[in-house]
Amino acid sequence: MSQYKIPVIAGDGIGPEIIAEGRKVIDAAGEVYGFDVDWIDYPHGADHYLKTGELISEDTLKELNTFDNIYLGSIGDPRIAPGVLEKGILLAARFYFDQYINLRPIKLLEGVWCPIKDKTPEDIDFTVVRENTEDFYIGIGGRAKRGESKAVLEVERTLYNARFGLDIETDSEEIGYQVGMISKEGTQRVIKYAFELAVGRYRHVSSVDKANVLTDIYGFWREEFESVASGYPDVTTDFNFVDAVTMWFVKNPEFFDVVVTPNMFGDIITDLGAMVQGGLGLAPGGNINPEGTSMFEPIHGSAPKYTGMNRANPIATIWAGAMMVEQMGEKDAADAIVAAIERDIKEAKVLTKDMGGSSGTSDIGDEIARLVKEMA
Ligand code: IPM
Ligand code: MN
Repeated sequence: MSQYKIPVIAGDGIGPEIIAEGRKVIDAAGEVYGFDVDWIDYPHGADHYLKTGELISEDTLKELNTFDNIYLGSIGDPRIAPGVLEKGILLAARFYFDQYINLRPIKLLEGVWCPIKDKTPEDIDFTVVRENTEDFYIGIGGRAKRGESKAVLEVERTLYNARFGLDIETDSEEIGYQVGMISKEGTQRVIKYAFELAVGRYRHVSSVDKANVLTDIYGFWREEFESVASGYPDVTTDFNFVDAVTMWFVKNPEFFDVVVTPNMFGDIITDLGAMVQGGLGLAPGGNINPEGTSMFEPIHGSAPKYTGMNRANPIATIWAGAMMVEQMGEKDAADAIVAAIERDIKEAKVLTKDMGGSSGTSDIGDEIARLVKEMA
């Protein structure tokens, strides 16, 4: 019997409720597919921050770095200013563990209501590979008042360091600026990952950028895309501007196989992708470092107003759990979890309110866990 140790950050809002269901389903899968998980709880999130002042310390990150996978609920709390927890915990972890892939499958499961008329599960089955460590997410920028000032902006990473020394001079009352940056190494590795993924699928990779306006940063992205693509003559490609791709996701989702995109556009288009596949309650994601520590989470937020109501849909978290189980090397168990989710939805007896049902969060976990065992 294989043994796994998995740290869990349940986080804020509905996080603890949905994570409990994900654990329940993975435990059930372990029983039938022959593995056992030792879950290790970490308290990080809003309450822990308010109590101790710690977002997530270097020591904790170092400790977490010794594990292969982390299971994450959701981060975000209305008592704390926007950005503090998101940057201090979620982005800190993505960067510290160098999780340069944000893998977001956009797959319409059978039985799920799709907001796009006449589209079926055959039409909606693609994967967004979102770069997860660079672009406008690197977190450097500032504000400057009228007159002259200086600033130093620095990015320190395992892959590389970059430093910008700025001499600012403005006659505006005040300016705000944010520097977006991508690197050759960072861009090539994510695009390569997308091509490798496409080789095992339908052999098509779509690039998303805004190279017609942000020419320096995304012109560079395009060049790197072309250079990687030249090593995959059997994979077809196309380029999309981000505004146009939002239209194509709705108009012709069947066109897409693997979509690779810089960080910020990836954030935006995957919320659209989530709706196309039936809603945020159904959209899983994985922050992956293929050589290090990965972290799996639903792509939705902490939905504070539903906290403790046993109302939130745990399917995105359970599905993210299946992605984690696949990453662990337990492919049969991962497939079984997704099949059980699909069966639960198709039977339509045990569903949360957002999917037209009247069951609670914990009922969904119970039912999917039961189905995983029954279908084995
Ligand atoms: C996501 C979220 C995060 C992001 C936020 C919470 C920092 O929106 O995972 O998509 O922007 O990446
Ligand atoms: Mn997002």
